[in-house]
Amino acid sequence: MKLDHVLKSQQFSKQQLEKLFRRADKLERQFNSPHRRKLKNSLNGKLLFNVFYEPSTRTRMSFAAAAHHLGMNVVETENAKLFSSAIKGESLEDTVRVLNSYLPDVIVIRHHLDGEIEETAKISSCPIINAGDGQGQHPTQALLDLYTIWKEIGRLADIRVMICGDLAHGRTVRSLVYLLSKFANIEFVFFTPETPDIPGFFRMKQDLKEHLDENEIKYTEISSGFDEALPQCDVVYITRMQLERFEGQSVDYGSSSYAIDASRISRMKDSAILMHPLPRNTEIHTEVDTDPRSVYFKQAGYGMFVRMALLQFVLGR
Ligand code: NCD
Repeated sequence: MKLDHVLKSQQFSKQQLEKLFRRADKLERQFNSPHRRKLKNSLNGKLLFNVFYEPSTRTRMSFAAAAHHLGMNVVETENAKLFSSAIKGESLEDTVRVLNSYLPDVIVIRHHLDGEIEETAKISSCPIINAGDGQGQHPTQALLDLYTIWKEIGRLADIRVMICGDLAHGRTVRSLVYLLSKFANIEFVFFTPETPDIPGFFRMKQDLKEHLDENEIKYTEISSGFDEALPQCDVVYITRMQLERFEGQSVDYGSSSYAIDASRISRMKDSAILMHPLPRNTEIHTEVDTDPRSVYFKQAGYGMFVRMALLQFVLGR
């Protein structure tokens, strides 16, 4: 399977997702076997540029680690907003044009403007991977989220998923909903805290709801009844408030209205899983970290294998 740019969740077919997940699973097994060193031959000597204009721990490091494990070389810039020529007024398009001339095999970009990476990909002579664009999408996070559900629940159809937190400004939830909506009999519950001062401030954006309506996918939006909804779900996906995305606007949100503590996790089904893209703030208490349903650290770990598989497909292996 050969992929070109990786820009948004909608681009993946179910068949591609299945191939990708089988490959990630195989890579994980190979990585933990005596044949681990052979992986280095897979993309030996290929060059990855990691260009991050916004903060990142997991995405940047797991792409770099994935590349190293496959024998690639990595050149990166973090905080490119301040430390690259962006501060001198250079556009992403000009930057990528120049980077292309250093002959990388793939460029991974995180940028603060929605849609900017997709636009820039049009002029790039090598594949571009969107590692998060503003409040737009984060397709590789959604891939690892879906992989986690596939591994931990064992199926991608017939599941009820509750997604909670700041659904208006978070990009991971957008990409995840687009990806999950490809599968049969998926039902979403969107929980956002009440915001009496600016009603509906954290609610899922209209474009996504239109997508669900057009595809006749069931969803409900709630701002109360969280405890009653918990026992009904197979996946509980928690996100943080994206504070940096609404700086200066004073919004009163009850941060505890969906915080998972020991008493709340005990309401979840034994077979359900608790996910979070991380980083977390106070919306998942550390006391539930050891509960077998808490899979968020495992989820982050799966990210590296999914990104290894993705790099192989993008580079035609
Ligand atoms: C997310 C992001 O950058 O959108 N982080 C990540 O890549 N795991 C989630 C977040 O910042 O809340």
